[in-house]
Amino acid sequence: MRTLALLTSGGDSPGMNAALRAAAKTCAARGVRLLGVRDGYEGLIDGRMLEVVPGPCALLGEAGLDVLGGQGGTVLGSARSARFREAAGRAQAAEVLRSAGVEGLVVIGGNGSLTGAHALAREHGVRVLGIPASIDNDIGCTALAIGTDTALNTIVQACDNIDDTARAHSRAFVVEVMGRACGYLAMASSVAAGADAVLFREQKRDEDTIVQAVAGVIQQGFARGKRRVLVIKAEGVEIPCTRLVRRVEERLGGMEVRAVVLGHLVRGGHPSFLDRQLSARLAFGAVVALLEGATDEMVAWNTPLPGGIPTSDGSVKRFPLERVLQETAALEDGSSPVMARRLQLLQQVEGVLPL
Ligand code: F6P
Repeated sequence: MRTLALLTSGGDSPGMNAALRAAAKTCAARGVRLLGVRDGYEGLIDGRMLEVVPGPCALLGEAGLDVLGGQGGTVLGSARSARFREAAGRAQAAEVLRSAGVEGLVVIGGNGSLTGAHALAREHGVRVLGIPASIDNDIGCTALAIGTDTALNTIVQACDNIDDTARAHSRAFVVEVMGRACGYLAMASSVAAGADAVLFREQKRDEDTIVQAVAGVIQQGFARGKRRVLVIKAEGVEIPCTRLVRRVEERLGGMEVRAVVLGHLVRGGHPSFLDRQLSARLAFGAVVALLEGATDEMVAWNTPLPGGIPTSDGSVKRFPLERVLQETAALEDGSSPVMARRLQLLQQVEGVLPL
C-alpha cells in the first residue's frame, strides 16, 4: 500500500491528535503517504484531503507533528455528517478515495463514525480500520476509548474546585457531566471525586425517585456534620439540573443547592498520559493492520471480552466492526455483560458513597 487516509469524526476527544501523530509517524517509517481528511465524512465527500506531512502543501510541518500530540480537539476538524448517512453520500466518499488512490482509511471516532466505516467497507469494499474515540466510553469491545481518561481527570479536577467553595459555605452541589447515552463518566468520576451520590440513565429511576434520593442524601450528609454534599449527574438523566435542584430545595424547605453543568468543558484540554499512550498504540495497531491487509475492524484497548485478533501489542486486539457495533448497542440497551458488571459495582458502592 502506498497511500492511506485518516479522518476524525463525531464528538472530538482529547487524544485524537496524538493518534494522528502516531499514524503519521508509522506511515512515514514504512514509506506510506498519509492524507488527512478535513471535517470527518463531510470533508471526505467533498474531497478535502491534505498530505499530513511533509511538503509545502502539507497540513503540518515536522515541527507541527512534534507539538500535535499534546493538543486537545482535532487538528483535522470533525463533524456529524448528515450527507454520509445517505447511500449517495457514502458512494461519493468511496469514489473520492478511489480517485485519490487511497488504499486504506483510518476512522477515529465513536459509534456513528464506526457505523459509517463499516458501511463504507460493506457497500463499497473500502479498506477501513476504526479507532475508538469518545469521552463517553460507550464503545463496545474496548475497555477504554480515546478521550475518556482526560475527561475524567477534568471532571475530578472541577469537582475538587467545587468542593473548596462548597465546604466554605456548607453547600450541596449537583454537578452534571456529559454522557447522553452512557453514564460511564458519571459512574467513574463519582468514585474518584468522592461524591455522595451518582445519577445515571442506566439506573432507570423516575424523576420523583431521583428528587427524593438526592434530597435524602443531602439531608443526611449535613445532619452528620458534613461541610459539603456532592451529587454527580449524567447528562442522560433527562431531568434538567436546574429543575432537579429547584425540586430538591423545595423538598428540603428552602435549603440552598447549587447546580453546575460542566458540558463541553470536559471535552477539551490537553490529553492525559493514558490518552496519549492509548492513542499512539491504537493508531500504530490500526495502520499496521491496514498494511497487513486487515479491513472492517476496530483496534481495542485491553478488551474486557473474550476473543479478538491479537496484535504485537499485548494491550491491543482487533475486532470485526460488526461485533463492535453489536457490543456497543448492547452497552446502550443494558444487555451487555460489561454494563451489568459496571452496574453491579456501582450498586456495591451506593451505600458507601455518602459516608
Ligand atoms: O461526544 C459525545 C458527547 O460528548 C455526548 O456525551 C454529548 O451529549 C454530546 O457529545 C454533545 O455533542 P455536541 O457537541 O454535538 O453538542
